[in-house]
Amino acid sequence: MKEINIFQKQFQAKDNDIIVASFPKSGTTWLKAIAFAIVNRQCFSSIHNHPLLSSNPHQLVPYIEFMYPANSHFPTTEPRLLGTHIPFPSLSKSIIDSNCKIIYICRNPFDTFISAWHFFNKVRQYCSSSALTIEEAFEMYCNGIIEFGPWWSHMLGYWKESIVRPNKILILKYEDIKENVNLYVKRVAEFLDFPFTQEEESNGVIESIIRLCSFEKMKDLEVNKSGIVYDGLENKHYFRKAEIGGWVNYFSPSMTEKLSKIMEEKLSGSGLSF
Ligand code: A3P
Repeated sequence: MKEINIFQKQFQAKDNDIIVASFPKSGTTWLKAIAFAIVNRQCFSSIHNHPLLSSNPHQLVPYIEFMYPANSHFPTTEPRLLGTHIPFPSLSKSIIDSNCKIIYICRNPFDTFISAWHFFNKVRQYCSSSALTIEEAFEMYCNGIIEFGPWWSHMLGYWKESIVRPNKILILKYEDIKENVNLYVKRVAEFLDFPFTQEEESNGVIESIIRLCSFEKMKDLEVNKSGIVYDGLENKHYFRKAEIGGWVNYFSPSMTEKLSKIMEEKLSGSGLSF
């Protein structure tokens, strides 16, 4: 909270900043990689020395909220690519008021929960806390008690603003990208004002970005098998299964009913659905 408070007061957005925002475990790592590869494609046209082969996407697109108070690891090149899990209304005023662009990824709340349960139990190990059972974690999730706040208000905050300011915020769904990654890589590039030329399309630039950022490729990189980005947390924990619908193997019928009801109650009428 202290770091977030300092961030809110001090962070000065630039009009050409690009913010990759998300609720945790929605596909942030993937979207950061895609955005980095799109924006920097002229600098690293040779795929062999690409930074994504030797750095985890969270190093290349760092979380703004974790940079304070040290304030030391801001990207020095522009446009700056920054990540955040902070809910929309709690962003710094300069992000909201400036012309910087936000790409927001969300994921169906069932898979998000299972991914978060696995991941945060790993984080708890590093803090010497005991693991939460799925029942304990689920109860908290349904009550909105999870890192970065209730998932429904997080998603709705960005979603509603994207309706008002479609040129500022692009909403993406993990499932949609998985289904048609080519389309969404193009859409992200256009939204960020880095559209692919006809020549790039014919030369397979989009396909090479898709391959570079694919789960199979990234999971297998040495940096993502043995590297560390934050506080001892190993990069490998950012890459688990990357499946859609894996939640069915974990949910009891009563859990399914409960979460479905919450989704209905919280999201109905908003236009956001999964
Ligand atoms: P699972 O836990 O369901 O496997 P985040 O990046 O927001 O922390 O989200 C993590 C989820 O995204 C994990 O889901 C992880 O496996 C998946 N993921 C990570 N890298 C990915 C990639 N390159 N492509 C698709 N999914 C990816």
